[in-house]
Amino acid sequence: MYRKKSSEEDILILAVETSCDETSASVVKNGLEVLSNVVASQVELHRKYGGVVPEIASRKHLELINPVIEEALLEAGIGFADLDAVAATYGPGLVGGLLVGLSAAKALAYVLDIPFIGVNHITGHIYSNFISNKEIKAPVVCLTISGGHTVLLYFEKLGDYRILGGTKDDAAGEAFDKIARVLGIGYPGGPAIEKISKSGNPAAVDFPRPLINEENYDFSFSGLKTAVINYLHNRQQRGEEVNIADVAASFQQAVIDILIAKIIRAVENNPVNSVILSGGVSANSALKSQLAEKLKGYNLPLYTPELSLCTDNAAMIGSVAYFKYLKGEFSPLSLSARANLKLY
Ligand code: KG4
Ligand code: ZN
Repeated sequence: MYRKKSSEEDILILAVETSCDETSASVVKNGLEVLSNVVASQVELHRKYGGVVPEIASRKHLELINPVIEEALLEAGIGFADLDAVAATYGPGLVGGLLVGLSAAKALAYVLDIPFIGVNHITGHIYSNFISNKEIKAPVVCLTISGGHTVLLYFEKLGDYRILGGTKDDAAGEAFDKIARVLGIGYPGGPAIEKISKSGNPAAVDFPRPLINEENYDFSFSGLKTAVINYLHNRQQRGEEVNIADVAASFQQAVIDILIAKIIRAVENNPVNSVILSGGVSANSALKSQLAEKLKGYNLPLYTPELSLCTDNAAMIGSVAYFKYLKGEFSPLSLSARANLKLY
C-alpha cells in the first residue's frame, strides 16, 4: 500500500487527456506548477472529414499515448519512480479515446503502486484558470459556459467548489450554435454571431431574458431561442426584410445580460475576491468587456485562461487531480469511461 503525502510535501502527478482529438500528457507539481504539457494534436488528420472521426481518433491515441507520456516525463526531468499519482480524464468525451488514456493511466498506477485519480474534463477546463492566473484569490465565482454546459460555481477555496445553479434547458453555446444555424451564418455559431454582431445594433430587437430577475442562479435559453425564431418567421411571413446583424447582436446582448445578471447576483450574495470564466463561450469579447466593466464597480478582477490552456490539455487534469489527491479522493481501477459525464 502506498503512503499518501501531505500538502507540506512536493506532489508530482502525471496526467493524461484523450477525450477528443488531442493526445496529451503532463507532469504537474503541487497542482499549479506545470513541469511539462505535451499535446499531440490530431486536427490535421480529421480535417479532411470535416470533424473528428471517433474510430480514427482512438487508433491515433493508441499510437501516441506512450511516446507522449515518455516525452512529458523527459521534459519534466523526472522518471516514473518520482511520481506520486497518475490521473486521467474519464469523461465527458469520445469513449474510445477516453479508454486509451484511462487504460494507460490505470496500468501505470497499478505497476508503480501509486494512486489513480479519474478527472472530469469540464472540471479540468475550470482549473486551467488557476494554472494560468496564479494570482487568483479565493473565494471565487466561476461561470462555465460551453457547448454542453452553463454552470455557476462558487469556490470557497481552491479545490473546493459548490454548484450555485445551471441551465434548465440549452447551454449558452448551444443557443449560439442554434441561432447561427437559423440565421444561416455558419458553424460554430458563437464566433460567427460575435463577428456579425459587430455591425449590428444590440438594442434593435428587445428579445426576452428568461429567469433574469428570478432569485436564483439558474439559466434558461430555450425561450430566448424560440423568440428569435418566431421573430424571424413573423418578418418572413409579412415579407419584411430581416437585418441579420441586428438580430444576431440583439440575441447576443440578451445572452450577455442574462449571464452577467447571474454572476452579479452571486457576487452580491457571497464573499468574493475573483471572478473567472471558462468554456468556449468565454472567448466572446463583448461578454468579457461588459462583464469586466461591471465588475469594476465591485473592485473585482475577471480572469480567463491563456489561450494555450483553453484548448484540451493534460495539465488542467493534473491540477484537478492534485486537489483530489490532498483530499484522498482516489479512484478505483475499475473506473470506466463515461461519454456523457456531467458536472451539473
Ligand atoms: O468549451 P468548448 O470549446 O467545447 C465544448 O462545448 O465542448 O465550447 C464550444 C462552444 C460552442 O457552442 C461555440 O459556439 C461557443 O463555445 N463559442 C462561442 C465563441 N467561441 C466559441 N460563443 C460565443 N462567442 C464566441 N466568441
Ligand atoms: Zn475540452
